Amino acid sequence: MSSAACFGPALMARLDELATFSDDPERLTRHYLSPAHCRAMQQVAGWMEAAGMSARIDAVGNVIGRYEGRRPGAPAVLVGSHIDTVTDAGKFDGSLGVLAGIAAVEALHRAGERLPVAVEVIAFGDEEGVRFPSALIGSRALAGSLDPSLLDARDRAGVSVRQALRTAGCDADAFGSCARRAEDTLGYLEVHIEQGPVLEAEGLPVGVVTAINGATRWRVEVQGEAGHAGTVPMVLRRDALAAAAEMVLAVERGVRAVPDLVATVGQIEARPGSINVVPGKVSFGLDVRAPLDATRRAALAALESAFGEIAARRRVAVAIDPFHDTAAVTCDAALIETLLGALARAGVRPRRLPSGAGHDAIALAALCPVAMLFVRCKGGISHNPAEAITTEDAGLAVQVLLDALRHIGAARTVKL
Ligand code: HGY
Ligand code: MN
Ligand code: MN
Repeated sequence: MSSAACFGPALMARLDELATFSDDPERLTRHYLSPAHCRAMQQVAGWMEAAGMSARIDAVGNVIGRYEGRRPGAPAVLVGSHIDTVTDAGKFDGSLGVLAGIAAVEALHRAGERLPVAVEVIAFGDEEGVRFPSALIGSRALAGSLDPSLLDARDRAGVSVRQALRTAGCDADAFGSCARRAEDTLGYLEVHIEQGPVLEAEGLPVGVVTAINGATRWRVEVQGEAGHAGTVPMVLRRDALAAAAEMVLAVERGVRAVPDLVATVGQIEARPGSINVVPGKVSFGLDVRAPLDATRRAALAALESAFGEIAARRRVAVAIDPFHDTAAVTCDAALIETLLGALARAGVRPRRLPSGAGHDAIALAALCPVAMLFVRCKGGISHNPAEAITTEDAGLAVQVLLDALRHIGAARTVKL
């Protein structure tokens, strides 16, 4: 059994190195197809090749390393996560899953060990969906479920995904070639920080994910009337920001009462944005999630109705663009048992827990069975530079992943 202690230090050093690939000198920001993301793609491909894999970058910017099994062309277990980040990110969200996968394959390579199955490590590029009004472009393309209209989505500078892919040296028109056949794919394993407080609170280093919340994202536009801050009487105003503010509070009020339902307004912009002008137009983003799709749908219907009532009373217009929607995903029972067995063999109390955060595994579930291993993170903090894990827990994650790969390989041998 390869011990955790031999994996942790090298993995943490790589995570530190990957965190230097940023578009902002002061903080970690690496959005999809940015210059830093393109440099990170090349670096990850180099690490994959050093670990004994053949590496390539596909038509939508996924970096894919393949470690052949005993028989070339054997079906593969996919392992991976994302290397794009939010703005002012932590260095573990996404990157941990990619680099832990490379470390596990590197251990096989160093031991000259070939499994009955191939292993592919994948670094997806658009999990966060921060630059473009999209998300999961890379993992959806690989799963064969990408809506091609997303390639025409534009960032705030007006650059389309298609143009950004061309600049990155990728051929967006060939996105169909990214799709995998189900018969070539045995399953998908993703190592990821928990981004929540449960494992730390229970003194556990890792846990196995049971299900991933469904999520909906809206872009809400409120159209009122810009006016002079000094002359327009309050009763005559059609203040878009005051209306939007009431909508934001309606979100908090309406969602708080429903167990496990969460909703967030993380972005808001008022125009024209002058201190002495009544805001005429406001745009804000809404993110709504729940373990059950019915709960999320009911909440969305109630919010749409509340926004309409507020807009009518305030004599403004409101428009909702539901640009992102993913159903809740249940992880595969057999892969969960494989991971739980690896935890037990590593001497860790097996713990199942749900994921409130979204992951590329949501998209991969359309292609193959999926499972996730969560790693304890300090204070449950994430999407924040204070994100932190320990070297020991990082090493244990690789040990568990490697054990699971060997067991999936062995099971495949039995089935063959
Ligand atoms: O938003 C999420 O849950 C993920 O971090 N993209
Ligand atoms: Mn993530
Ligand atoms: Mn994230």
